[in-house]
Amino acid sequence: MHSNVKKILITEEEIKNRVRELGAQITKDYKDKKLLMISVLKGSVLFISDLMRAVDLHMRIDFMSISTYCGGTKSTGVVKILKDLDMDIEGYDVLIVEDILDSGLTLGYIRDLLLKRNPSSIKIATLLDKVEKRKFDIQADYVGFDLPDEFVIGYGLDYQEEYRNLPYIGVFDI
Ligand code: IMP
Ligand code: MG
Repeated sequence: MHSNVKKILITEEEIKNRVRELGAQITKDYKDKKLLMISVLKGSVLFISDLMRAVDLHMRIDFMSISTYCGGTKSTGVVKILKDLDMDIEGYDVLIVEDILDSGLTLGYIRDLLLKRNPSSIKIATLLDKVEKRKFDIQADYVGFDLPDEFVIGYGLDYQEEYRNLPYIGVFDI
């Protein structure tokens, strides 16, 4: 185990199985739709790359990047677009793919922004959900795992841009 991981919360195997289940559900739900998965960089890259392989449909992906954090473990409340989408999402059934839903600031902002661009629908898939921490009125349609209020790293999630490559989700030990 990595020296900065206090404990492994979700193993590689558990992630794999859950992502497969979510992919099967999305395949059913989007059967007659025009699916566009939008990955919110950088935390969700591992999740979207596994999730899209578990979806058996014609689909597209695009990326956007937004910052709400200044490298620490507390949300600052400031949202900034670092990279916008390449695609025009009008008429698409958009599925926003996020690593973690915490206060809800990030996803609330992205959802409101994308709604103005006339997609056919917008839903949210998050790998992790810290329900207790929610400050904004937003819920995910697909949730991998509920989390307690602990700062986690791995499988895309960072602490100061490191640890994203860990294959599991672990509690960060400062
Ligand atoms: P929100 O805007 O407060 O919902 O925060 C969402 C963003 O905060 C995520 O996309 C992550 O980048 C970051 N974040 C929140 N909690 C954690 C955590 O436990 N570990 C790593 N990043 C986190
Ligand atoms: Mg982050």
